[in-house]
Amino acid sequence: MAASALPLPLLLCAPAFLLLAVSCGAALDDPASLLRRAKDAEFMDWMVGVRRRIHENPELGYEEFATSELVRQELDAMGIPYRYPFAVTGVVATVGTGGPPFVALRADMDALAMQESVEWEHKSKVPGKMHGCGHDAHVAMLLGSAKILQEHRHELQGTVVLVFQPAEEGGGGAKKMIEDGAVENIEVMFGIHVLDTVPIGVLASRPGPVMAGCGFFEAVISGKGGHAALPHHTIDPILAASSVVASLQQLVSREADPLDSQVVTVGKFQGGGAFNVIPDSVIIGGTFRAFSRESFDLLKQRIEEVIVAQASVQRCSAVVDFLDNDMPFTPPVINNPELHDFFLKVGGEMVGPGDVRDKQPMMGAEDFSMYAEAVPRTYYYFVGMLNETRGPQAAHHNPYFTVNEDALPYGAAMQAALAARYLLERQQHAAAAKVEPRDEL
Ligand SMILES: *[C@@H]1O[C@H](CO)[C@@H](O)[C@H](O)[C@H]1NC(C)=O
Ligand SMILES: [Zn+2]
Ligand SMILES: [Zn+2]
Repeated sequence: MAASALPLPLLLCAPAFLLLAVSCGAALDDPASLLRRAKDAEFMDWMVGVRRRIHENPELGYEEFATSELVRQELDAMGIPYRYPFAVTGVVATVGTGGPPFVALRADMDALAMQESVEWEHKSKVPGKMHGCGHDAHVAMLLGSAKILQEHRHELQGTVVLVFQPAEEGGGGAKKMIEDGAVENIEVMFGIHVLDTVPIGVLASRPGPVMAGCGFFEAVISGKGGHAALPHHTIDPILAASSVVASLQQLVSREADPLDSQVVTVGKFQGGGAFNVIPDSVIIGGTFRAFSRESFDLLKQRIEEVIVAQASVQRCSAVVDFLDNDMPFTPPVINNPELHDFFLKVGGEMVGPGDVRDKQPMMGAEDFSMYAEAVPRTYYYFVGMLNETRGPQAAHHNPYFTVNEDALPYGAAMQAALAARYLLERQQHAAAAKVEPRDEL
């Protein structure tokens, strides 16, 4: 058949082509068409290839040198200008007019210190390191957004700033990006995360708090070591530390509002080494989570008080360290409510209103929250990966975690659509204000 010889896009676009020459292909203000563009076989292959190259060579926080180089090579290939370095390995690229307004899209680049257990062609080649959270997918998606936006760069009503940041996993990369000036003059910023529990094709989020604030603590509880058979000659830090752990569990159960979700977990307990020796000291450590600054600060204060006071009950002393320098406090991620409406609208146009869903807040933390200190309005949402016909989906940070690469076009297109539409509406708003200056009176 003659028709089958036509390239598929031409065939699909033929009627429109007759009516309006420019209507063939994706339109910047039509999110569904951007998704179709990102699902093009060639586009997909390129994004999947990028993701797999990053997956094979995972790098921990502030060590993302090869990943950063790969990002810059891809930006060079697309002719997109960028600045580098920010926060050691970070890259900040720009697409559009180069002038205001500025809207930012963010991807994190770091992997985890864990061993991948999935056997596949593109398994991590670095023992003990793995992209176990999906940040390899985030980088591929943001490069996908970059490609879409670059194809429409002359239509952008301002500048989209593409932020590739290091060290999301506890390293406070976002904070260092801000300190290095990566997000100056940005009005609005969007962040994404792929998510194992949300179905493929679904975008999910909520207004207000969406990810918890997170802090860490470590305490040295000191007593006096000695013979296990002569406890009266010692001051036993193991008993004191045990009481501390039990007391810490009463902060959330007795002091916190049951409707204000919080967590205190002791994940580290180290001390002693012999059956018949009472050690000098014990080290405990853990994490605490809350959804408001007030609850978070109160937990922090009470954790210190409880550790010190409870240790003293058994005549021990305690020193508490909140490790702020190595692992900065991560505030909760709070979504701007107007941007949530905007997300529902643009997402609805892309995947259909039924596939833009509400998401319960999560106890996980995300340093995207730090950008709220420097950017007036921020928004964070999830891109679904779960496809049960492909079998079970292992959770993030699990050695069997996998990325469903079918999700890549959704993240790439949605981020591009949000940024482009924001600039468009901002420009329309400004134009309307000029025509009818008395509107605001
Ligand atoms: C889910 O997986 C099946 C099997 O691989 C595939 O045919 C289908 O297109 C996938 N669904 C989505 C929305 O990607
Ligand atoms: Zn993670
Ligand atoms: Zn993550």
